[in-house]
Amino acid sequence: MDIQKIRQDFPILKRKIEGKRLVYLDNAATSQKPRQVIRAITDYYEKHNANVHRGIHRLSEEASEMYEEARRVVAGFVGAKEDEMVFVRNATEGINLVAYAWGLKNIKKGDEIVTTVIEHHANLVPWQKLSKKTGAKLQVVDVTDEGVFDIKDFKSKLSSRTKLVAVVHMSNVTGEILPVKEITKLSKRVGAKVLVDAAQSAQHLGFDVREIQVDFLAIAGHKMMAPMGISGVYLKKEVQLEMDVFMTGGGMIREVSKQSAKWAKGVEKFEAGTPNVGGAIGLAEAVRYHERLGLDRIRQHEKELTKYSLDRLGEIRGLKVIGPKEVEIRGGMVTWVMEGIHAHDVAQVLDSEGVAVRSGHHCTMPLHERLGITASTRASFYIYNDKDDVDRLVEGLEKVKKVFI
Ligand SMILES: Cc1ncc(COP(=O)(O)O)c(C=O)c1O
Repeated sequence: MDIQKIRQDFPILKRKIEGKRLVYLDNAATSQKPRQVIRAITDYYEKHNANVHRGIHRLSEEASEMYEEARRVVAGFVGAKEDEMVFVRNATEGINLVAYAWGLKNIKKGDEIVTTVIEHHANLVPWQKLSKKTGAKLQVVDVTDEGVFDIKDFKSKLSSRTKLVAVVHMSNVTGEILPVKEITKLSKRVGAKVLVDAAQSAQHLGFDVREIQVDFLAIAGHKMMAPMGISGVYLKKEVQLEMDVFMTGGGMIREVSKQSAKWAKGVEKFEAGTPNVGGAIGLAEAVRYHERLGLDRIRQHEKELTKYSLDRLGEIRGLKVIGPKEVEIRGGMVTWVMEGIHAHDVAQVLDSEGVAVRSGHHCTMPLHERLGITASTRASFYIYNDKDDVDRLVEGLEKVKKVFI
């Protein structure tokens, strides 16, 4: 793959920080956006902008068609049908939609919700709130001492009381790829619904809801080259029938009288108010960008980069990488702690070298606590990163050691 050519698509990567080429390794927080996506959004606003599903004038019809075409493209990316993909602002909103619209209606006292200690707060706090509201019990699956998903503990927590299993596909800290196929199979056996948080994975590993029959899937548009403020949540068609509405107002109704309202049918029922049409068009263009490159090639490239960075970081004394060592079960990221040096200090020195990484608890406080640390530093890759970027990271880390030790 010609990484230099791919980089040409991302104008921001031409920036210099402290006179050095920007090395952007914070893709798990948000990705950069290619020209193709930026152009699609500009084109929409310059030529077609209007509100959707309301007007009968030409622009409104065009905008509505473009919005629904975007829905087809984004749904297709995860193997879903267009009437199963709801546009939301971010993965967090997608998960909350499921917690409120499905959870509040279907979870009762005595039921159990199973999640893991690996989760981003976005896939933990909504279940804490739901269990407090309903009286259901929240079961949190542990990790091994290496920070890897503990399938034995998962099996021990599954029972006929389990109504929902909510797990991440790829950890945003350890990079671990969880065995979601097996998790789904086991969960279905006890009759539980399954939600997968694919915020870190859909764009790097792919996810097909026809292959892994989950009920709900959340993706994060801004982490997959789309603008911020647009994402999708897959809601299996049959499960939609068991769902209440999420937010109420315009756009999601069929009929309203003074005292009551009837809901629209299909995905519109979950999209109250004016949607982010330009964002949806940008997200569809981002999907096309991934499809042109091919998810297999993206995965292969990031796997090689991860292997290279594990080897190179392994050479640094006093640095401990968190999570699995095998790249087969690890996505494109590496997270570490450095003896005697705070994660924020590491990130600050790296920034002065033009290397952008993330430090802190990465919205996974329970996982950090379980691993006995308060903070860590993370480098996360995408298709425009290469081995030179990893070398720059390693050089930066040598400087960190010089400054602090
Ligand atoms: C695994 C995981 N889930 C959920 C989220 C939340 O995503 P968003 O910021 O799109 O709500 C993130 C964001 O970092 C994440 O890494």
